[in-house]
Amino acid sequence: MENNTDYHIPVLLKECIEGLNINPDGIYVDVTFGGGGHSREIYSKLSEKGKLIVFDQDADALKNSWKAPNFHFITSNFSFLSNQLFALGISKVDGILADLGVSSHQFDEGERGFSFRTDAVLDMRMNQRSGKSAKDIVNQYEESELIRVFKEYGELNQSRRIAQVIILERAGKTIETTFDLCNILRHLAPKFKDYKFFAQVFQALRIEVNEEMAVLEKLILDATDLLSVNGRFVVMSYHSLEDRLVKNYFKRGSFAGIETKDFFGNVIKPFSEINRHPYVAEEGEMERNSRARSVRLRIAERNER
Ligand SMILES: C[S@@+](CC[C@H](N)C(=O)[O-])C[C@H]1O[C@@H](n2cnc3c(N)ncnc32)[C@H](O)[C@@H]1O
Repeated sequence: MENNTDYHIPVLLKECIEGLNINPDGIYVDVTFGGGGHSREIYSKLSEKGKLIVFDQDADALKNSWKAPNFHFITSNFSFLSNQLFALGISKVDGILADLGVSSHQFDEGERGFSFRTDAVLDMRMNQRSGKSAKDIVNQYEESELIRVFKEYGELNQSRRIAQVIILERAGKTIETTFDLCNILRHLAPKFKDYKFFAQVFQALRIEVNEEMAVLEKLILDATDLLSVNGRFVVMSYHSLEDRLVKNYFKRGSFAGIETKDFFGNVIKPFSEINRHPYVAEEGEMERNSRARSVRLRIAERNER
């Protein structure tokens, strides 16, 4: 059970563990195992009666796992959380942790295609065994779909222009690699802001490839069903679209942020927030771990049903 910080350094570790408010005999789920940094800490707080179930859709993460009777690694998308737990005979859990997005390992492995700083096939799939890749999207999507992806997920105001350039270029030659994509879009990048521009373009494609918004909605609904009363849901987001979804659901009980009230005027919502404002990393942690720069940590407790 060694800490594999070469794979990923856990973000806001202390705050997450405190947020889970661990009962040593309880059942906990880490839906984004990665390097296992958060999981190891959760596991160390459990008794022999406690259980830790972990998920990662990337088969690479399995190498950070360990063997123990009260520990289960499930190579699956967390959108199947309820079904997978049902198969293990589990219908209620005491805490769920989600550390969303990609691991440093996925980002640093140039050939996975997540980074615009390394030339590689445009892949970006967290689960390399299924689904469409970023290459499929840039070469096959219609103009209107490309505009949607860059506008919604990259929040790019040049989304129409980006889509047009891609369509024009791919008519001559397939867009194969990360550098192919950067080269054809470079003239659209605002001066001195090309880093931010490419980060937004790549983020948009990654969210679409991995259907990150849809699976997050499914996870939140499954967590609502699975958590026992007073069970904790701890979520770390790294971009505003994810954080908005989590915030709306925790604060107002719906993804769109629309409240429904009962007869007495109380908002009907499954969770109560433990922290009204999200935790962010301190300067020191950001210096040690660049992944911590954009984190927003929200913690909520399951209300009475
Ligand atoms: C930010 S890392 C987690 C790091 C981990 N907390 C640690 O301390 O090492 C996110 C991990 O979750 C996985 N992941 C992201 N979305 C997923 C999903 N929908 N289903 C399953 N795993 C997912 C990624 O493959 C990645 O390994």
